[in-house]
Order: sequence, then structure tokens, then C-alpha cells
Amino acid sequence: MSALLEVRGLSTVYDAPEGPIRAVDGVDLTVGRGEILGVVGESGSGKTTLVMSLMRLVKPPGKILKGGEMLLDGEDLFGLPRSKMPARRGRDLALIPQSAMHALNPVIPVDKQVAEAITVHRKVNSKDALLAARERLVEVGIPAERHSAYPHELSGGMRQRCVIAMAVANEPKLVIADEPVSGLDVVVQARILRLIAELKESRGLSMILVSHDLSTVARVCDRIAVMYAGRIVETGEARTLFKSPLHPYTRALVAAIPQVQGPKQALRAIPGDPPDLSQLPPGCDFQPRCPSAFADCETVDPSLEEVEPGRKAACLLYHKNERRQLDE
Ligand SMILES: Nc1ncnc2c1ncn2[C@@H]1O[C@H](COP(=O)(O)OP(=O)(O)O)[C@@H](O)[C@H]1O
Ligand code: SF4
Ligand SMILES: [Mg+2]
Repeated sequence: MSALLEVRGLSTVYDAPEGPIRAVDGVDLTVGRGEILGVVGESGSGKTTLVMSLMRLVKPPGKILKGGEMLLDGEDLFGLPRSKMPARRGRDLALIPQSAMHALNPVIPVDKQVAEAITVHRKVNSKDALLAARERLVEVGIPAERHSAYPHELSGGMRQRCVIAMAVANEPKLVIADEPVSGLDVVVQARILRLIAELKESRGLSMILVSHDLSTVARVCDRIAVMYAGRIVETGEARTLFKSPLHPYTRALVAAIPQVQGPKQALRAIPGDPPDLSQLPPGCDFQPRCPSAFADCETVDPSLEEVEPGRKAACLLYHKNERRQLDE
């Protein structure tokens, strides 16, 4: 069976005074049916631009470059006239944006907001829409007595549950969530992630879950794509990637996760700063920060290639054709 989502050669640039910023640079992605793909990378690696590109919500000075493809259930959404996209958003593709507060209208009770999301895309009367909305709210763990609350009367976790209810209200083919748990405390984060895992089980939810935190995505995702400087630098099955990362950047992300068990150790930050996307170095983008870098990394730009079945990495250490002997 074909993948639910296939993205090929997606590039998005921002025109800036200092030159074009390639925030998303030739990204290929696939999401299977009923699969959660995690996209992880430091702040500034292009995650939100990727999300907005997939929703076709990039605004000037940003633009999606021609030549990319985004097949959802076999249909190329990038090939559709722009005017057709609003009908797709919310129905085929649903967004959980970076801030739950921005997704909610402060002056409308939450059950009415979910009901509105339903009536926009379906021919149902307002009474039935409200009943369906309340069912969705119960499903995401909002008790009946809070259904007619305004967003400011709810906790951050409850608001995020409402946004999730709205996202799944029309049974979209794919939900794209941008940092859905950042800004919440760790206990609430864990509960929201559990809710996402439950929805995957109960509804066969397909999702792209974006986060700067590898431990967040590792908990609920089936597969992970690691993003650095606008590119995917490693992909693989979540547990395998987490247990034995290949790319030096993924290794650094894993090493930066604080250990709850075992001896206490200082939190290791990834050395160096995320790159300036308008002035990327020649060769490998990660080279200035890479502890494993060798001479060729300064000139050869590694592509994302299969290293073993189901695992890809964009690193010369693993490339059979480009591989060079390390100077010991
Ligand atoms: N509206 C914008 N105008 C110009 N540059 C932008 C804009 N939005 C994002 N960028 C650039 O794109 C890069 C990636 O940003 P973003 O997609 O928000 O990354 P992330 O979500 O991973 O933090 C940023 O480093 C920034 O330089
Ligand atoms: S190609 Fe070289 S610099 Fe880039 S990640 Fe691999 S070892 Fe490091
Ligand atoms: Mg972001």
C-alpha cells in the first residue's frame, strides 16, 4: 500500500536583505497510514517553515520553490490552485499550531469553536455540530462541565486538548502538530502525549509531530526525521534511532537529553550555535560543530542516503561512495 503522504524536493526560502534564507532545503518525507512521524531539530532548523509549507500557509517574504511535490493519498496538493486549499485545511490536513492560544478564539466557548470547525466542512445543523463537538471534547478528556468554558478559563493542558479536538473534529487524513507540548509543564506534556498515542490507537491517526525535544518525539512517534539547517539529516524507526543514532548531530541531541536514572551528570548542550541559514558553510552544514568532522567534510555536501534498511543519514561517515578514510 502506498504511503499516506509523500513529500519530495520541498524547498522554501525567505527573501531577506542579507540574501535568501533556505529554511527548508530539498526535504523528502513519507508518512504511512496510522503512523506518527516525529520531526526534531533545534530552534531555527526550519521546522515551523516545513509545517507551514505542508499546509501551504507560507507568507511573504517566504515562498515555496517550484519543483517540489506533496502527494496526500496520491493527490499532489502543491499542484492544486491556491483557492482549493482552504477547503482541504481542516478536512484533509489539520494543523495544531505552535501556540494553542493562537488556535483558539478568546471570545467563543470552546464547544462552539469545535462545532464551528465541523460546520465549516460538513453539512450538519448547528445543534448536531454542537453535540458532535462535545463528543470530541469528551474524547480528548474535557469533562462536560467545562465544555462551554472560554479558553482563558482553562489550563494550558486543557486548551491544548481543545485544539486537538478541533484538529481531529473532521477526521482529517493527516494532522500536523508544531511543538504541541512545548510551554506545558512536564506532567501535562506527558498527559498530552498519552492522549496523542491513544488517538493513534483509537482512530488510526496519522500525524507529523514537530518538536525541538528528541525525548518528546521518541515517546510517541513510530519514525523520526532529524532536521538540521533546513534539511533532513537522519531518518529511522524511533526506538532504533534513539538507541543508536548515526548522524553526529543526532548523537549530540541524544547526549543532550538529561538522564533521569543513573548517576547525576551535567546537562550537555550541543556545542556551537545553530547555523545562520543565509551563510551556510561549504561542504557539510554540521561541519563547524561536528566532533567527527574530517577533511572532506569541508568540501563535500553529504546527501541523505540509505545506510541500512529503514535508516538514512546525510553524513560522509556512512556513505559508501563518498566515504573517505578518517585520519586517525
Ligand atoms: N518570516 C520570516 N522571515 C524571514 N526569515 C524567517 C521567517 N520565518 C523564519 N525565518 C527563518 O527561517 C529559519 C527557520 O525558522 P523556523 O522555520 O521558524 O524554524 P524552527 O521552527 O525550527 O525554529 C529561521 O532561522 C529564520 O532565519
Ligand atoms: S559529514 Fe562530516 S561534518 Fe558532516 S556530520 Fe558527517 S562527519 Fe560530521
Ligand atoms: Mg518552530
